[in-house]
Amino acid sequence: MNAGLVTVAYIGASILFILSLGGLSHQETAKRGNVYGIVGMAIAVLATILAIRIDDYAVLAVAVAVGAAVGILVASRVEMTQMPQLVAMLHSFVGLAAVLVGIASHVDPRSDFAGVEKTIHEVEIFVGVFIGAITFTGSVIAFGKLQGSISGRPLILPVRHWLNLAGLVVCLWLGYEFLRGGSLVPLLAMTAIAFVIGAHLVMAIGGADMPVVVSMLNSYSGWAAAATGFMLSNDLLIVVGALVGSSGAILSYIMCRAMNRRFVSVILGGFGAEGGTSAAGATQGDIAPTSVEETAAMLSDARSVIIVPGYGMAVAQAQNAVSEITELLRGKGVVVRFGIHPVAGRLPGHMNVLLAEARVPYDIVFEMDELNEDFPSTDVALVIGANDIVNPAAQEDPGSPIAGMPVLEVWKAKTAVVLKRSMATGYAGVDNPLFYKENTRMLFGDARDSIDGVLRRLKP
Ligand code: TAP
Repeated sequence: MNAGLVTVAYIGASILFILSLGGLSHQETAKRGNVYGIVGMAIAVLATILAIRIDDYAVLAVAVAVGAAVGILVASRVEMTQMPQLVAMLHSFVGLAAVLVGIASHVDPRSDFAGVEKTIHEVEIFVGVFIGAITFTGSVIAFGKLQGSISGRPLILPVRHWLNLAGLVVCLWLGYEFLRGGSLVPLLAMTAIAFVIGAHLVMAIGGADMPVVVSMLNSYSGWAAAATGFMLSNDLLIVVGALVGSSGAILSYIMCRAMNRRFVSVILGGFGAEGGTSAAGATQGDIAPTSVEETAAMLSDARSVIIVPGYGMAVAQAQNAVSEITELLRGKGVVVRFGIHPVAGRLPGHMNVLLAEARVPYDIVFEMDELNEDFPSTDVALVIGANDIVNPAAQEDPGSPIAGMPVLEVWKAKTAVVLKRSMATGYAGVDNPLFYKENTRMLFGDARDSIDGVLRRLKP
């Protein structure tokens, strides 16, 4: 394929990727954003295949077919709640690809770089392999922690920062040796050390910070892809890598803000080791259980209702029934709105996706900051399978592990009804004083069963 045409195709694909990111930032345009991304990627793959001389198309076709088949199988089977694990696994592939491409690029006998160009190429290889190796093992550990196959508790070695620093210094020295001699040994030695640094960095981070880690690894995988783009002199890979790298970094920052965590302290780990001074099981008091009949009556009598969905709504797959209740209540003249916490559920935008899927109108779905002031004038706050994101301890208990995290202030409503199965803690493993407040009613049971029950009673 003519080089000019390839450039035009790459520019077109880059524009589509940018439009895709823009589209994915709003629910109304998310589907369109996905289509832009798919078309952009199809153009990018096609142009890349046609741009280079390929000796054996059959091998390529088999590789593409196997990759596509595995991708389709995994994506069609994955549960919405397992999405973070899938994302972590995909990041590990990008990291490993950067390592393999870097090493292959170094040993490629056709490589004809010389002088300054050779040095630049070797720096690209070294940096790309380093970022890729950290991304690979970091993502594998994040996958294990999210999946539950590795303990969510942070591994805190006494001299962990010094260990990381020592690893970094040795890698710098190996980089110097690599550039000086061009041998494969320092490159492989650095790869092994970077594998250990990546695993150690993420092992030291507690389960509660895993969402931020996954989005940070997303950013790393972007930079690894950009470095690979430099190695292969592929402009599109550089642009796409930079897009992924910067958007992942911005998302990590937004999530850190939502959890009131400092980015640096998340990266350096240790959060959740002791979990603050308030241990789970410390909160005590009386709770007031309620029934589906009473809940249905409270909702029908209310003038305004705010629904706060959380991870439990996703587990129970209650979103469609919630949407039906919303429609019924709105039909009766009740003002119904949804309050969405930035880290509700298990992945960014988790609740928005579920509500959009259940056709809840976008204009009644609000961000936490847009709605928090309205709770005092709200009759019923209906908390469906949410826990950490409505925990007043974040504001009231400076010793709580989640102290300072912004939360939805549902306890300020006239009545807060909490739907969950038991008194179990949420993701952060922290007790929730909301359940013991005077104006809180606990509706125990699977959220889907409870919501179905309420729906039956609301129907004329
Ligand atoms: P959580 O604090 O995890 O609480 C969910 C609650 O849902 C649990 O207490 C559980 O109580 C209940 N539940 C589970 N299955 C249920 C079912 N079938 N029916 C009814 N209730 C059910 O969730 P949240 O309030 O959404 O907060 C999210 C947490 O996850 C935060 O700590 C956040 O940092 C973390 N996190 C977020 C993300 C992102 S990016 N969103 C990613 C990973 C982690 P029972 O067991 O008693 O039913």
